[in-house]
Amino acid sequence: MEIILQNVRYNFSNRPLCTSNEVGLAKEIIASHYPQMADLLKDGHPWKEAKALHGALTAQTGQEILSEMGFENNDPNRELICLIGEIHDLGRVPDGLQQKLAQNANPERMEEAERFAALFAGCKDHGEMSVKILEEWGVFNVFSPDTADIIRFAIAHHTDDQSPILPRPDTDEAEMMKFIVTALIRDLDKLALFIGKTAKYLYDEKEIQRQEEIVKNLLNQKYHLTYRGRDKRVEEVVMNFVRNWQPIPQRFITTYQQYMIYMASWALDMNSPEVLRRLAKDMIDAEFTESKPPINMILDWLDNHICKEQATEIRQAIRAYFAKNNITI
Ligand SMILES: [Fe+2]
Repeated sequence: MEIILQNVRYNFSNRPLCTSNEVGLAKEIIASHYPQMADLLKDGHPWKEAKALHGALTAQTGQEILSEMGFENNDPNRELICLIGEIHDLGRVPDGLQQKLAQNANPERMEEAERFAALFAGCKDHGEMSVKILEEWGVFNVFSPDTADIIRFAIAHHTDDQSPILPRPDTDEAEMMKFIVTALIRDLDKLALFIGKTAKYLYDEKEIQRQEEIVKNLLNQKYHLTYRGRDKRVEEVVMNFVRNWQPIPQRFITTYQQYMIYMASWALDMNSPEVLRRLAKDMIDAEFTESKPPINMILDWLDNHICKEQATEIRQAIRAYFAKNNITI
């Protein structure tokens, strides 16, 4: 089969990386452990129920996009990619516990939560934590060593600032699949956030406060919620990433407006044209707003929340990037 990633055509046999049974077995193992683990976070924590929903949405959106790309319904590789999409953020549970245990843990399981969080002390980020969890649960033993490596690699690298540089199309397929799966997981993760969260991030006061909390914890620095501000100038360092068609690394984000520009900049890091086109497609979110493509939702919001000149510049940069990919926004 052939898919396009980063504007390069990749031809590969799509030899099965696993069987459907193996995917089913992995799902059973995860389902038997997950509720106990998630219960270590307090109810309502954004990395508990909401994260599980994000995983489910990543898998569901994955099914649609992978179909569009030509993966058959019963293709075990498609099932595997959707499974990875579903579980890539498991590590958010220990991540949340490590950040502020007293505040984030289930008060009834505080000691257990502390012990659990300590197991992840050496992990770089929640991607590595997800891998460690799957390791502990024995999920990798279900798959062949090569496939286990692909899963590890994709989950560990879904958190990188930028998508990996993909190997040449004539690279050995076993090696290439590692990068193809990683590129797809990164796209599907972000697409699910665009689909599930754009309207909420922009218009839902509760969600905005929640995000403020999360980013404040993550960045460990002063984070200004200037949601109402209209004339705030965005820092040049942030603008430069957009001008250069690059995703903004999260560490540069200090305001809510920048957080939304950061999200828009993910569009500049999408690997597959199917996902990019989806961002430019109307999305119905009756709860908050009229139907509009997620990328336009953010650009329109920026018109009213940062200075006009910079909002226009961001719109032009992102529009030009989409036009380069033959998509009109
Ligand atoms: Fe993640």
